[in-house]
Amino acid sequence: MPLKVCVYGSGAREEAIRDAVSKSKLCENLVEDPEAADLIIFGPEQPICDGLVDHYCQKGIKCIGVDKKFSQLESSKLFAKKFMANHGIKCAKLLPLESEIFPQVVKADGLCKGKGVKVVYNSKEKDEFTRKIPAPYFIEEYLDGSEISVMSYFNGQKLVNFCPARDFKRLNSDKKSPNTGGMGAYCPVDLSEYQQNRLDLYLKLLEQALIDEGASFTGFIYSGLIWTRDDWYVLEYNVRLGDPECQAILNYLDNDFLSILLEDVIPRYKKGYSACLTIASEGYPDNPIKGDEIILPDGDNSVKVYFAGVKTENDKLYSNGGRVLSLCKVGEEPFVDLKNYAEKIIMKHKIFRNDITIF
Ligand code: AMP
Ligand code: GLY
Repeated sequence: MPLKVCVYGSGAREEAIRDAVSKSKLCENLVEDPEAADLIIFGPEQPICDGLVDHYCQKGIKCIGVDKKFSQLESSKLFAKKFMANHGIKCAKLLPLESEIFPQVVKADGLCKGKGVKVVYNSKEKDEFTRKIPAPYFIEEYLDGSEISVMSYFNGQKLVNFCPARDFKRLNSDKKSPNTGGMGAYCPVDLSEYQQNRLDLYLKLLEQALIDEGASFTGFIYSGLIWTRDDWYVLEYNVRLGDPECQAILNYLDNDFLSILLEDVIPRYKKGYSACLTIASEGYPDNPIKGDEIILPDGDNSVKVYFAGVKTENDKLYSNGGRVLSLCKVGEEPFVDLKNYAEKIIMKHKIFRNDITIF
């Protein structure tokens, strides 16, 4: 029977989920009120870590979202470290708090909206950062390599894995520019056969770890991985789809997203690459300017536009956040088209990365 579906949350990721769900044969309609839904799909980490999945499950509503216990994989980096250690999953080694081996990585233990992690290169940087973040924090070794994001769906019994994606976290190409929520993403990432084999092995370990720990939720687990020392090391877990990786993956899917979640169907993809480019507002991430009128170019329907931080007033669009729009396209060189489209958008303080490419 078709379902009334509520997608919980309000950014571009959630818009992309709504778009995919509304096309599903299993969806009757989208509803805003979770109490009125047969199925709730959770977007952001905060409600998941606050235990809202447990809350709605207890009311008998089916939820796609990690339960409170396993949400600690994201909300407590030390919980995640213990989970990995118990199951032989590789990650960066913890260093003593007073370690003077640089570079090193300082990480706040709790949720910090992407602002709790910094690679520091000397004691001065370390002191400045540790004074800014909430305690407790810890120090880990710096790993050098290329990163991928792998999003998986745990259906209560096994993992269904989406193809690897890559996001661009830095505000611009400068290695020291600030971390953002993500300035762009693409998928798939081309891996060597050896890298793919090691990835399959890692994902089996993760699946077995969840089963052995008695996980019974249905929800998304995001593994932030880095390729170093000839293997994948976990940098972080998130208990949700990544933003903007989600937009890239969902536009790349060639079959019904809800069937993947509810009917054990394997994801299939379109040809070429899928990319997503963030239009942000000057001042992002710390102090974005809001209130610019936005005029989108006419006549290019091949680019999908999701609203991340947009307000509508009298049929006009205005910027209303740091990340404003998420542009998506599938093709052979999608970033070229996205950049051209981005240039044509009228918005006084728009910023976007024009150096992003597929590599
Ligand atoms: P996290 O929120 O833990 O993923 O950290 C954000 C970003 O910081 C990651 O995507 C990496 O680019 C970087 N990072 C985190 N941990 C490490 C590490 N141990 N070594 C090098 N870079 C790291
Ligand atoms: N794009 C990374 C994240 O969603 O945390």
